[in-house]
Amino acid sequence: MYIDNAATSFPKPERVYTAVNDWLRNGMAAGRGSHQGIDDTGRMIDLGRSKLAQLLGLSSPSRIIHTLNCTDSLNIILQGFLSAGDHVVASQLDHNSVLRPLQELKQRGITVELANFDPASGLIDVEQFTRLVSSQPTRLVVITHASNVTGTIQPIQDLIRIAHNAGAAVLLDAAQTAGHVPISMHDMGIEFLATAGHKGLLGPLGTGILCIGNGLESSVRPLRYGGTGTSSELLEQPLEMPSRYESGNANVPGIAGLGAGAEWILKESVERIHEKIQALTQRLMEGLQEIRGVELLSPRHTRNVGIATFNIYNQDCREVAMILDQSFRIQCRAGLHCAPLAHRALGTFEKGGAVRLSPGVFTTEDEIQAVVEAVHAIAQL
Ligand SMILES: Cc1ncc(COP(=O)(O)O)c(C=O)c1O
Repeated sequence: MYIDNAATSFPKPERVYTAVNDWLRNGMAAGRGSHQGIDDTGRMIDLGRSKLAQLLGLSSPSRIIHTLNCTDSLNIILQGFLSAGDHVVASQLDHNSVLRPLQELKQRGITVELANFDPASGLIDVEQFTRLVSSQPTRLVVITHASNVTGTIQPIQDLIRIAHNAGAAVLLDAAQTAGHVPISMHDMGIEFLATAGHKGLLGPLGTGILCIGNGLESSVRPLRYGGTGTSSELLEQPLEMPSRYESGNANVPGIAGLGAGAEWILKESVERIHEKIQALTQRLMEGLQEIRGVELLSPRHTRNVGIATFNIYNQDCREVAMILDQSFRIQCRAGLHCAPLAHRALGTFEKGGAVRLSPGVFTTEDEIQAVVEAVHAIAQL
């Protein structure tokens, strides 16, 4: 039983496996140039981009940039948009893929402040956030749409409005929400969106997406420079989107799978997927809360993306996960989940973190029941 979809989704829809297999067997070409295989690959990539643009509410597929993963997408913005003297506001909920680049950027003269969150609600402290973004000119605000530790979905529209009123651009880390929660970059009015391709978007590992708002490409230096298959007469990196940020041959089999994942999600509808995962997660949290000795860390009364994190009193989280795996064949994730500050705020850092269960779109109610029974049995040990 795979209940670790917040790390990467599994299984994938059948069409994702087929798309990867088909391209590896028949694709043969990099998608740049002029023979038939190249045309077919180019068309496949374009089609996938238009599905992803539809899913993420972008005005044009050229705004979809393929990256290595969400970490890569976040790094492109953090390292390419910020310069010495800039001020950034992020939060305690952020993943190390935000916190570590920011730590590095401090050495380059960028100042960073972190908003707190309330462990009871899982929500960012809006008053303190407002103070941080307005007390000095802020160039960028990073918002984690849903925490990968608690699963709580932030009321981002309020946070975006506050950031924009203060003149800051917004980078949304949608690693946990894309494919799980309806998202429209256009409606949200944000400047940058980074996400993984291999989680809720159901693509293969090694895929990621970055979206950059219209016209902002001139303000974001690429992380990598090189051949794009476009404007090859120039020695300078072209401004053209999306190739400005896609130097070198792409992970085309991964992109083929990701396009198929996006197509499947559009067919099923994000709203229906969200409802299904919500119902499973609510059932899971309810079951966990009824077990004596279990401390549920994911707030139940706020919107959740599909994550139930808990500890069993006096038991080591990694040991609990090991027993779940070895005795019950249930795969989940224990530890700090690359989000040390969120665990500090929850009071679980010293204990080495917590156990995270994350159902996916293919998880069944029977599996949820089996997980609750397994945790119940471990809590009696
Ligand atoms: C909130 C959040 N941001 C960023 C990442 C990094 O994603 P990736 O592994 O695709 O780089 C993760 C992965 O778990 C995440 O949960």
